[in-house]
Amino acid sequence: MSAVATPAGQGREGAARLVLGVESSCDEMAAAVVERGRRILSSVIHSQTDVHAPYGGVVPELASRDHIRSISAVVEQALRDAGTGAEALTGIAVTNGPGLVGSLLVGLSFGKALALRLGVPLVGVHHLAGHLASAELADPSFAPPYLGLVVSGGHTALYRIEDGAPPVLLGQTLDDAVGEAFDKVAKLLGLPFPGGPAVAAAAVRGDPESVALPRPLAGLPGLEFSYSGLKTAVAIEVRKRSPLAPQDVADIAASFEAAATDVLVARARRALAQEGLARLAVVGGVAANRRLRVRVAEAAREDGFRVVIPPPALCTDNAAMIAAAGAALLARGERDGPGLEAFSRAPLGARAPAA
Ligand code: KG4
Ligand code: ZN
Repeated sequence: MSAVATPAGQGREGAARLVLGVESSCDEMAAAVVERGRRILSSVIHSQTDVHAPYGGVVPELASRDHIRSISAVVEQALRDAGTGAEALTGIAVTNGPGLVGSLLVGLSFGKALALRLGVPLVGVHHLAGHLASAELADPSFAPPYLGLVVSGGHTALYRIEDGAPPVLLGQTLDDAVGEAFDKVAKLLGLPFPGGPAVAAAAVRGDPESVALPRPLAGLPGLEFSYSGLKTAVAIEVRKRSPLAPQDVADIAASFEAAATDVLVARARRALAQEGLARLAVVGGVAANRRLRVRVAEAAREDGFRVVIPPPALCTDNAAMIAAAGAALLARGERDGPGLEAFSRAPLGARAPAA
């Protein structure tokens, strides 16, 4: 962190009053304006689905090119929707990692330039800190301490969240992320990109008990996850049934979705008990999954814990969560300068000491 001049009369709290968030870590270009880290005044998302669909996955070079084309219009739209001019902004929060560096650099350069022009502070936000912030953004009465389950295309991890302290990583995937598993299974089933929503849609017509799939690590000690074995089990079933009839696709999708989400619920329950926590936040793109949302709500009723799962639009990548996380950092006095760098990988917070 380096010192950046803050306009006179604009202290820590002032900087967090009206924050523009910019998110461009992968294939979504997003901008949002959030008031005091809590009230979403606007949230604009430009999706690149059409750009990447023909390739069946995100092509990094195409992603950054499209970000360059769309960023000005997306930010302008966010300001228009919020009914504010850029001059009213008090701070700028931008995702600086982890993600595709070429994509991140587009948002980062734009954020730096705008902060400089407006003379307002800039702060870099870790993408996962953004996802975690979506819980308190969705329900302002939700507060630490709580367990944060992050389930996205790149991450599957459990964090202990305490007030004013860095998140503590309790466990994460040893191989694939759960969203990645959804995306790979979609490919195996011949479903379109993006895979997660396509698998979920196919699963609606299928029988979740038709294929006996493993629940990797679910009953075992520890808080790690593993999804590569489950994906391989699906690949074997696909080979066995090929050519797949539409009902095969639906049944395999439903069985995979049930297995993948069962593991998440089992691990979250174990972590809550181990950590003595009574509150759970489920965040990240996979938290948009209906079956997961229903299962987590059932577990919460049975075990008596409180749960927040943000509305789907706040689960998948968006900039409101970045603005909210950034507002919290700005309010604590954190500032980044023009030297702020993008990073492709970096853990969030601290690691829990070995039990
Ligand atoms: O958080 P996110 O938008 O981006 C990352 O940070 O990765 O998460 C994207 C992931 C993708 O793997 C996508 O397939 C998955 O979330 N996803 C879903 C659903 N919607 C998005 N997975 C299962 N069911 C869904 N409804
Ligand atoms: Zn994400």
